[in-house]
Amino acid sequence: MARNSEPTTAPLLHTPAAATTTKLNKFVALLAFLSLASAVVFAVLYFSNLGSASKANDDKAARPLSTLRRPAVVLISSDGFRFGYEHKTDLPNIRRLISNGTSADAGLISSFPTLTFPNHYSIATGLYPSHHGIVNHKFVDPATGDRFNMSSHDPRWWLGEPLWETVARHNLTAAVYSWPGSEVKKGAWDCPPKYCPPYNLSVPFEERVDAALAYFDTDGDEEVPSLVTLYFDQPDHLGHQFGPDDEVITESVARIDDMIGRLIAGLEERRLFEDVNIVLLGDHGMVGTCESKLVFLEDLSPWVDVPRDWVEYYSTLLSVRPPPGVSPAEVVEKMRRGLGSGRVENGAKLRVYLKEELPGRLHYSDSERIPPIIGMPDEGYLVLLKRSNRSQCGGAHGYDNAYFSMRSIFVGHGPRFRKGWQVPSFENVEVYNVVNAILGIDGAPNDGSPSFPQSILLPTK
Ligand SMILES: *[C@@H]1O[C@H](CO)[C@@H](O)[C@H](O)[C@H]1NC(C)=O
Ligand SMILES: *[C@@H]1O[C@H](CO)[C@@H](O)[C@H](O)[C@H]1NC(C)=O
Ligand SMILES: *[C@@H]1O[C@H](CO)[C@@H](O)[C@H](O)[C@H]1NC(C)=O
Ligand SMILES: *[C@@H]1O[C@H](CO)[C@@H](O)[C@H](O)[C@H]1NC(C)=O
Ligand SMILES: *[C@@H]1O[C@H](CO)[C@@H](O)[C@H](O)[C@H]1NC(C)=O
Ligand SMILES: [Zn+2]
Repeated sequence: MARNSEPTTAPLLHTPAAATTTKLNKFVALLAFLSLASAVVFAVLYFSNLGSASKANDDKAARPLSTLRRPAVVLISSDGFRFGYEHKTDLPNIRRLISNGTSADAGLISSFPTLTFPNHYSIATGLYPSHHGIVNHKFVDPATGDRFNMSSHDPRWWLGEPLWETVARHNLTAAVYSWPGSEVKKGAWDCPPKYCPPYNLSVPFEERVDAALAYFDTDGDEEVPSLVTLYFDQPDHLGHQFGPDDEVITESVARIDDMIGRLIAGLEERRLFEDVNIVLLGDHGMVGTCESKLVFLEDLSPWVDVPRDWVEYYSTLLSVRPPPGVSPAEVVEKMRRGLGSGRVENGAKLRVYLKEELPGRLHYSDSERIPPIIGMPDEGYLVLLKRSNRSQCGGAHGYDNAYFSMRSIFVGHGPRFRKGWQVPSFENVEVYNVVNAILGIDGAPNDGSPSFPQSILLPTK
């Protein structure tokens, strides 16, 4: 599962060490160029702020803990927090973490497909979805015919070793206040009720923050948790309803900032804010969708019939599993003919692949759970089965992770993070090794690069 990675240097930024990248195709190379261009802008802005640059040069090693006996990480996910949302309005608390911490200059790169469960579990395991098994929100295990859905807690679906299991394996405490997969009992992790409450969408954000803080109030010989996770289901829901540019998103992002402020205040009260490593990130981005940007599968019927029950998933991603006896290659060939005919509305906006032909950078072929035919609509387009008179605009994600709109954020703050530092964007499968490196424990084999943590964390003495 080790990832083939080649080191690249980022000469323009004041980066700590080598960052890694996967093999790039032309399209990504273009995006990388754009990213580099924006890095130049960042760098100019950054170095013109001499105060923070010289301060950054001063921190050469991890700062000592004053209250805690061992390192701790609070890992926070804000669902659908698209890269750039942090500039929508003044967010004093997130700004504080960014300016006194380390952040990814052009955001955190989601794994493909850029959906909530696959990405939360990639962050938790360091594995691409094809390797951790949660390849989509809905899929079929072809060996048994069983269907996965988001309330499936059977461990046979959830492969790899998530952070909470890694922590438990080292006899340390993890408190997982909602994270996809946390309720699955596997290995050393049995989801203890106190440290693993069932996911409940109705719990107000304030209560979630207070519950995370309360895990640090141990009595007697109870261990302070090494890992505490916190999950906010916004601004994702509002992003779907109203699109990423609506004013409600600005309000939602400000509310997330308030929650970060509540967490900071609670940690300060406990004299823990400078001891705890806070990692704030999101699972994916969001892009606007609208009625004119649709591709209908029924329009392909003159070339090929794609019945409803072959389709495992559709919208921002199309997954098709034809029954045995039907050649996927033939179906793809006919779909392509239809889409390329000029006679299918928006046909040019949908690319269909046999999964083996998908670009390698997507890492989306190495699992039987991934159906043989995968369709990828262009950014902002949706694939639907049939025409309807539904007319609505909103937002969506799930697209190619090369789109900037599918990126989220990464901010690290605490004793292991340099202050006022920016690193080049990286893939979210790197986060697993970063958290384990902070905690000083060995993770399971994964798709992250073993040397990545050194490039982003201050060394311990
Ligand atoms: C960074 O930390 C310092 C020292 O704790 C604090 O005074 C300052 O307000 C912080 N920066 C921001 C932008 O909040
Ligand atoms: C989801 O899966 C669970 C078991 O894995 C099953 O009990 C439940 O009925 C499924 N829900 C839906 C909506 O299919
Ligand atoms: C964890 O505790 C068990 C039982 O007390 C022990 O056998 C095991 O060696 C410990 N593992 C580590 C990594 O400390
Ligand atoms: C979910 O949380 C709400 C608000 O705290 C509570 O009223 C409700 O009982 C909880 N539901 C479950 C199933 O625990
Ligand atoms: C959509 O509305 C038109 C009239 O406005 C109607 O003729 C047509 O049958 C409707 N189509 C569907 C799929 O409901
Ligand atoms: Zn979503």
